[in-house]
Amino acid sequence: MEKKNIIEVHNLRKVFKVPKKSKDLTWIKKRLSWVYREWEEKVAVVDIDLEIKEGEILGYLGPNGAGKSTTIKMLTGILHPTLGEIKVFGNLDPVKDRNEYTQQIGVVFGQRSILAYDIPVKDSFRLFKAIYGLSEEFYQERVEYLVKMLGIEDFFERPYRMLSLGEKMRCELAASFLHKPKIVFLDEPTIGLDASAKIAIRKFLRKINREEGVTIMITTHDMDDIEELCSRIILIDEGIVAYEGSLTKFKATYSDWKRVSFYYKKVHDKDKLKKLRENLDVIEEIEHNITIKIPANDSLGKYLSQIVESVEIIDLTIQEPKLENIVAKIYENRKKGS
Ligand SMILES: Nc1ncnc2c1ncn2[C@@H]1O[C@H](COP(=O)(O)OP(=O)(O)OP(=O)(O)O)[C@@H](O)[C@H]1O
Ligand SMILES: [Mg+2]
Repeated sequence: MEKKNIIEVHNLRKVFKVPKKSKDLTWIKKRLSWVYREWEEKVAVVDIDLEIKEGEILGYLGPNGAGKSTTIKMLTGILHPTLGEIKVFGNLDPVKDRNEYTQQIGVVFGQRSILAYDIPVKDSFRLFKAIYGLSEEFYQERVEYLVKMLGIEDFFERPYRMLSLGEKMRCELAASFLHKPKIVFLDEPTIGLDASAKIAIRKFLRKINREEGVTIMITTHDMDDIEELCSRIILIDEGIVAYEGSLTKFKATYSDWKRVSFYYKKVHDKDKLKKLRENLDVIEEIEHNITIKIPANDSLGKYLSQIVESVEIIDLTIQEPKLENIVAKIYENRKKGS
């Protein structure tokens, strides 16, 4: 069954005013730039349409400066859109219905904290308890659950400033899920974290998504986050949606080859094997191990039957290009194109 949309965005635009570059100013204006500044418009998000489905983990990708954080800030009601419409739960507007809306969402900005710097993390949580109007019973149970799931008991009573980056991030996540929100927005929640902290965070997100059906929108530059969490992605580039759809379709669309390695013992037909070598794009051959490259959209069967006729296969592996490389190539092509 098709899932319901929990967020619908139409023609969303954000224009910032930024100081004009000095090279675009006349010499007199340059000289006066400390008293007189000319401004120009920077369109960070260009009339985008988005849908976020209930209960999904949506990956929001794009190169630096693409407009990801700006979109998230508008979706969470922190920034006012210049134009366009955002409807959440069918009728709420993040800006106009701010109070009601914030009760139902959680937010983490990897680059900025929602927890107070100088006081124990636990006390910040108490503050959130009051802000969200949580009952003592709900709060106790929830904190116990989150503290355990994120493994933060050892430093939960320490001031935030005394924590390491990974410890801080786990506390931030716990805080953003405290009031059992229906939607959580995560803007680079794994930035700067080591491999084991990243794994712990992914595990937590998968679990809470499954157990509570919470909808999650995540931006990240770590493609392993995307591979392990998201089934659907949206890629934006210069404020425009460049791709929207499943991760599988994305890979199939943008990867141009896959690598097939096979290991054989016996040769059935020497001539066929020779011909095979000539016809295929062999990228490596070590003793009885041959690795070939085949076009991504070609059927594997065609190649397999040729291989099977020439040799007796013992082992075969198929490798697709890594998401990281596919995305890097898209970003590079864009730079060349602009
Ligand atoms: N407050 C602001 N005032 C002026 N320009 C801004 C402001 N915030 C963002 N921008 C500009 O808008 C564009 C999009 O920025 P945004 O922070 O949304 O990018 P991003 O996709 O989150 O990038 P990153 O991956 O680097 O975090 C950038 O060109 C940025 O310089
Ligand atoms: Mg950002």
